[in-house]
Amino acid sequence: MESLLQQINDHKLAIAAFTANNTDEVEQFRIKWLGTKGLVKAIMGEMRNVPNDQKKEFGQILNEFKLFAEARFQALQDQFAGASTTSTGKSAQDLSLPGDAVSVGSRHPLTLVRNEMVAIFKRLGFSVAEGPEIEDDWHNFGAMNLPEDHPARDMQDTFYIKKPEDGNGPTWLLRTHTSSVQARVMENQKPPIRVICPGRVYRNETISARAHCFFHQVEGLYIDENVSFADLKQTLYFFVQEMFGKDVKVRFRPSYFPFTEPSAEMDISCLICEGKGCNICKHTGWVEILGSGMVHPKVLENFGIDSNKYTGFAFGMGVERITQLKYQVNDLRLYSQNDVRFLKQFTGVV
Ligand code: DAH
Repeated sequence: MESLLQQINDHKLAIAAFTANNTDEVEQFRIKWLGTKGLVKAIMGEMRNVPNDQKKEFGQILNEFKLFAEARFQALQDQFAGASTTSTGKSAQDLSLPGDAVSVGSRHPLTLVRNEMVAIFKRLGFSVAEGPEIEDDWHNFGAMNLPEDHPARDMQDTFYIKKPEDGNGPTWLLRTHTSSVQARVMENQKPPIRVICPGRVYRNETISARAHCFFHQVEGLYIDENVSFADLKQTLYFFVQEMFGKDVKVRFRPSYFPFTEPSAEMDISCLICEGKGCNICKHTGWVEILGSGMVHPKVLENFGIDSNKYTGFAFGMGVERITQLKYQVNDLRLYSQNDVRFLKQFTGVV
């Protein structure tokens, strides 16, 4: 039996050392070792000569040998899976077949709309400013003239990250609006200031078709001598005409924001139903798209800007809302679900 063991070992060494340069050589391996007249079969046939009391032990050794040869064959096959040439050097692929279409990715609709918004304001001479999404409560609330007890500061509305235990140091939170970037710009720049601030904001909201715990805003800030409400109106009017076309109508409604005085919200005529009344405009024919106003003198003074010399306007709008109107997306959750059936509808839009 010693010689049989020796044979098996020699075979194993030969099998392990076998290399193939192409699929034909893999086939040669199969015929030589695993074929019906192959060496593995031949060795298995030796079982006949093994004494009965050793049969069990040899049976195991032979079985293991067979598995060893099969595993090597599988490895050689894997090596040439998808191989494109045969031993004759001819291509195994039919090069005359039409190619597979490569699917091209698309920009996210929110990116498309944000880019368009930025481009429109750039044409008016605005530059882009960005700020951190993790903010301290001074830049997000205090500097923007939101009093300590303002409801927006509530835990139910704002995601707080860290409150100082001993009362010292800032309270950290996820910014609730891009107005915080206004604060950062005024901290670092002297008037004239003309910036827009696109970015993501967070609110502690239950997610539904109409509300989400994060969304995107574009903030605007213009501070100079003699900036008036008329400048604000004209700027925003220009924006909507560029964004939605010349036929869109606008209206301003008096409103309240702690950081502006006077304040106004701006509506545009409903593009979905053209004023006839639909779900989007709640059957009023108008859709609110932004908040705005003249920068509150207190906000200017917070940053050492002389409110007697300088005036300014500010506005803030949601990118999701503008996208909803532009592309008729009626569920906010679609924006963050990464469903390709939704996203691929924007392929080719630039
Ligand atoms: N920060 C406001 C919000 O998140 C939007 C806003 C309103 C921004 C009026 C402004 C503004 O700059 O003047 O709802």
